[in-house]
Amino acid sequence: MTLPLEQSASTPEARMQKSYQERLKQVIPGGAHTYSRGSDQFPQNTPEILRGGKGVYVQDAEGNQFLDYGMALRSVAIGYSEDAINQAAIEQILAGNNLTRPSFIELEAAERLTDMIPAADMVKFTKNGSTAVSAATKLARAYTGRRCILRCADHPFFSFDDWFIGSTVVSRGIPQEVSELTLTFPYNNAQALSDLLDERGDEIACLVMEAVTAEEPVAAVFAPEGNFLHDVEFLCKKHGVVFVLDEMITGFRWHLQGAQAYFGLSPDISTFGKAMANGFSVAAVAGKRDIMELGSIDRAGSERVFLLSTTHGAEMCGLGAYVATMDFNEQHKVVEHLWQYGKSLRNLINRKALEHGLARNLECYGYDCSPNYALRDDDGQISLPLRTLFMQETLRHGLMMPWIALAYRHGEKELEFTATVLDKTLPVLRTALNEGIDKYLIGDAVKPVFRKFN
Ligand SMILES: Cc1ncc(COP(=O)(O)O)c(C=O)c1O
Repeated sequence: MTLPLEQSASTPEARMQKSYQERLKQVIPGGAHTYSRGSDQFPQNTPEILRGGKGVYVQDAEGNQFLDYGMALRSVAIGYSEDAINQAAIEQILAGNNLTRPSFIELEAAERLTDMIPAADMVKFTKNGSTAVSAATKLARAYTGRRCILRCADHPFFSFDDWFIGSTVVSRGIPQEVSELTLTFPYNNAQALSDLLDERGDEIACLVMEAVTAEEPVAAVFAPEGNFLHDVEFLCKKHGVVFVLDEMITGFRWHLQGAQAYFGLSPDISTFGKAMANGFSVAAVAGKRDIMELGSIDRAGSERVFLLSTTHGAEMCGLGAYVATMDFNEQHKVVEHLWQYGKSLRNLINRKALEHGLARNLECYGYDCSPNYALRDDDGQISLPLRTLFMQETLRHGLMMPWIALAYRHGEKELEFTATVLDKTLPVLRTALNEGIDKYLIGDAVKPVFRKFN
């Protein structure tokens, strides 16, 4: 049945009757382009749509301002709409933005990255982290002639592609044969990894992991010195497995040259993205020459690997933003700032939790450059309803903290504002714990992204 135009959901009048959330969900599956931006990840009083951002503040549709600790899923590590980065991107837009042959900025960006990261002899840029990590697995399969991928079970996300999602609970739509090619290993258990590699090492093309999330690596068991990460590197070498280090989050946060420099690692392939261009869409797969060169066109007679070939992979505005972000990081000591601010924020949250009788319930932990927070009920169990209430109440006072992603523009003023908001918010959490959280929650509790059913 066709509705008269004035009644159809797509007329401007009909749209105006609906909330932004309804409109988003009407035309975008999940209502957003990342599941972690979805409405099931936020309390009901979260702005449904954002108008813009500047520094570390975002504005909702009505112009209300929020101090943001989400920072575009960690892709903005300096600040929203940073002038120097914008200008660099605009220069590239004015120069054509995407040309018929490689551009100067493409060469400059590739040389900048390979100069910066010792384990990166060559690099290929792309638009999303997922495609970069998937490209790494393809290179590894081609290099080793093996079929399986081994990925860390304790790290939440590597790619939207089948090889990873097929190994999670949300595996619908992925053939079992594909899922079976991805195996998992536990973080910080070198013996378990070694046993697995002894048993199936000759099937495994690559091992994919982040260096760290919140948990610190334990002391090495197999490598002559160092920690679990050195064991991983050692065991990969022993079994001829390509070591893929996913630096999507750690890159340009733990250290300018990535977590690999912070921990003293030399992965075969590294992947970068997120904060590398302060919110512009740039990701990269980089690595040692003998592996990366499989994607070349010059090795006469050798069988080719079709490595990342995308129309927009080297879009000039993104690469201009990347180079400018690296300049800014160096000039302003951004990484040092993230470590310092994170330490102050972690201390602040934990002190306020103590002051408000929530020492067992609210904990900020992890590496100072990228802290996490957890909310637990009085029995010490992780509580999503309490987490939702924390977000709901902080939002009420202008603070958006779905997780903690730090940026250079988080400074003293923002720390003070955070303290004020915590003083207003935490008493509500204490009362809710005593009287029942449901009584204080105005909508549903947030849900995990990785769940089988809606
Ligand atoms: C560690 C890690 N790897 C890969 C990705 C995928 O990056 P993108 O969302 O740019 O595809 C993410 C995104 O959250 C990530 O956290």
